[in-house]
Amino acid sequence: MAKQKTAYVCNDCGAEHSQWQGQCSACNEWNTLSRISLGAAKSTPDSRQFRKAGYAGTNSPVQTLADISLDEQPRFSTSLGEFDRVLGGGLVPGSVVLIGGNPGAGKSTLLLQLICKLSQQMETLYVTGEESLQQIGMRAKRLGLPADKLKMMAETNVSEITAAAQSHHPKVLVVDSIQVMHNTEVTSAPGSVSQVRECAAWLIQYAKQTNTALFLVGHVTKEGSLAGPKVLEHMIDCFLMLEGGEDGRYRTLRGHKNRFGAVNELGIFAMTETGLKEVLNPSAIFLARTEEISPGSLVTVLWEGTRALLVEIQALVDSSQFGNPRRIAVGLDHNRMAMLLAVLHRHGGLFMADQDVFANVVGGVKVGETGADLALLLAIVSSFRSRALPRELVVFGEVGLAGEIRPVPSGQERLQEAAKHGFTRAIVPKANAPKQPVKGMEIRAVSKLSEALDALEEI
Ligand code: TYD
Ligand code: MG
Repeated sequence: MAKQKTAYVCNDCGAEHSQWQGQCSACNEWNTLSRISLGAAKSTPDSRQFRKAGYAGTNSPVQTLADISLDEQPRFSTSLGEFDRVLGGGLVPGSVVLIGGNPGAGKSTLLLQLICKLSQQMETLYVTGEESLQQIGMRAKRLGLPADKLKMMAETNVSEITAAAQSHHPKVLVVDSIQVMHNTEVTSAPGSVSQVRECAAWLIQYAKQTNTALFLVGHVTKEGSLAGPKVLEHMIDCFLMLEGGEDGRYRTLRGHKNRFGAVNELGIFAMTETGLKEVLNPSAIFLARTEEISPGSLVTVLWEGTRALLVEIQALVDSSQFGNPRRIAVGLDHNRMAMLLAVLHRHGGLFMADQDVFANVVGGVKVGETGADLALLLAIVSSFRSRALPRELVVFGEVGLAGEIRPVPSGQERLQEAAKHGFTRAIVPKANAPKQPVKGMEIRAVSKLSEALDALEEI
């Protein structure tokens, strides 16, 4: 009998090692190696098992790119506009979408709502390994979802799942969650690296060969990364994260990997008593400002994929009690804030080395772009001088180390979105100044930090 081969796989990054060691040499994490049996690979299903006419499996012929027929694979809507947007315009048959998120983020709720609606148009199968069928039935009833057509199954064995799927031919298959699935040919416990890997490989192979859209639910670790090997992220087509806002009411669905669309799209949902609701006008919620605008508060326009999002940035500058002034940024990159403070000192002449600086983005939004630089700087100046800025002012632009104000993408669209929400004044980079005036908007275009500070004085 051939000797069983084993390898040691890092739970964090998925790197393989031939022998055990305390620290993963790929990602430098300690105590993350666990042993997997490589013999398990033989348990992947025979490729002919799920083979459907016309679908390439093994023994595929070599073709030129031009010869590949593109007429199949039309996308179909998931019935939730925000979800479609994050997927890049709908669901692609045969694609595998992994949805990650903290416990209670609403992954099961979101997928149940989605698949109940889809079940009215096509064959669907929902497999749960975590909740009982009664629990799901009760939830569907409470949410008022159509329940007559959706096929349900409580199962954790992947070969049973694919066997059931082969007899019902669902077009959309949901598996909740990949961490509780097991494959009887792999000896390790569910949730372990080898089980997650083998089960995912099994289900993905089924999905690819039968052209079924597959949704997998994945748990995240407390550090926020996907539990199980990184290798899972390589196997799937799309990886979406459902994240909760600070106040727990809003959920954002963000693409981290997408083979069929852009990854910078953001879908926003509100968790209500009747499940997740799409938020069609997200700027309105993040902009619920108080009657009186206090110093340090300023609105900026972010660009999220294909739409503009207005958010309020708040800054608080206070004289420091300690030798080391604090710089704390929530929702913003604090290294970037430290850099902007240095720019403010050198090019704006404002000395803040003896001040604590706090900054926050209202509504728990995370700012990942540089377009908020100028707004953050001006909010800091506003707090420093205890001078409130007008309610109808909106600011965006990137700030360079030489104190120059750099343009950001989609300036025109950002201004239009701001105008739509009743903003009448804007400070923007010179290169973003619109050629035609934006209706109802007084625009001040600046190219240097000093000009922006002057503009603030005149307002
Ligand atoms: P769930 O989908 O079970 O989360 P996950 O599968 O990501 O762990 O969502 C559970 C949370 O959602 C729970 O904390 C309560 C909340 N919730 C509501 O507020 N309203 C609802 O109608 C539902 C179904 C859930
Ligand atoms: Mg769940």
